[in-house]
Amino acid sequence: MRHLLSILDLTVEEIDSMISTAQDILDHPERYREACRDKILATLFFEPSTRTRLSFESAMLGLGGRVLGFSDASSSSTRKGESVADTISVVSGYADIIAMRHPKEGAPLVASQHTRVPVINAGDGGHHHPTQTLTDLLTIRRETGRFEDLTIGLCGDLKFGRTVHSLIEAMSRYRGVRFVLISPRELALPPLMVEELAEQGIPCTQCQSLEEQMGALDILYMTRIQRERFSSEEEYQRLKDSYILTPDKLAGAKEGMMILHPLPRVNEIDPRVDDDPRAAYFRQAYYGRYIRMALILHLLGQAEGTAVTPDKGRPRYPQNQLPGAVCGNPHCITTIEQGLEQRFLRDGKTGEYRCLYCESKAE
Ligand code: NCD
Repeated sequence: MRHLLSILDLTVEEIDSMISTAQDILDHPERYREACRDKILATLFFEPSTRTRLSFESAMLGLGGRVLGFSDASSSSTRKGESVADTISVVSGYADIIAMRHPKEGAPLVASQHTRVPVINAGDGGHHHPTQTLTDLLTIRRETGRFEDLTIGLCGDLKFGRTVHSLIEAMSRYRGVRFVLISPRELALPPLMVEELAEQGIPCTQCQSLEEQMGALDILYMTRIQRERFSSEEEYQRLKDSYILTPDKLAGAKEGMMILHPLPRVNEIDPRVDDDPRAAYFRQAYYGRYIRMALILHLLGQAEGTAVTPDKGRPRYPQNQLPGAVCGNPHCITTIEQGLEQRFLRDGKTGEYRCLYCESKAE
């Protein structure tokens, strides 16, 4: 059985195959109308969502399946103190596949340890969001025709933006990709990710000015400042208007540059930009339904043993219990889940230990 917890759980070949399936569904939706007949998708959203939850549900309905779930943790037994492990043990008896979103990092990994059916991470805290990345990849493929030789600017909240983290992991696997990381210093990409890019020899520039870098970009990926992950409202107020993309700022951009945004936007893209042919974010949201259809087919196909075992993209190091060590990340699932023991992975290259659930360094 396969789960999708991080984008690196999929090989480049699997992603290519899913993109081809999604393109075929876009061209011939009628061929897939019965593909998931009698299958049930559970959408468990412990955190707000519009696009991700509704596109998952629309995807399953488009495949002839059915859906159940909740869109608000307060309407589930979480409110009564139920653990993720217990919720998943129960729901996996009611559904064939689960898509879940949770504010704590590593919650989908806990779910995968207690489920009888495939689990999809639909966003965990500021950690990963692999299905948004699949959406981004389908958009990039349809709009530019390639993944190689691209200069990708990521702008806004690179610290807490989980879509940014997953997109960087995904695009790092393609030749000739360069990243331009544009953020206030306080919201820079986590140092561990910057180190990983350096180790892999992937060109990466960190800066604060969007205008200065605009002319170099093939893709501009704008993001929202993630208010709900700040520990101080004052800090959010100070940083919230750091970047606002306006038609004037696009004057120096390439004619073929693509503007992406996972949405929702707050005010980081002026609505006047929407009419610019380079603004691809609403097309991007539209494609989300089709790549999720392809993903559901892929994971259910594997659950039934119809697909070959892939070689996993992410190296798995031996799991260790480090007596006395704790995960220092306040957003980690280990801070709230009852009975969950701390586990750490030893990084083969640096020898450092990282939390199995959220990948923060052990303290
Ligand atoms: C993103 C998310 O939830 O991380 N939204 C989405 O899934 N399309 C981006 C965000 O909330 O800023």
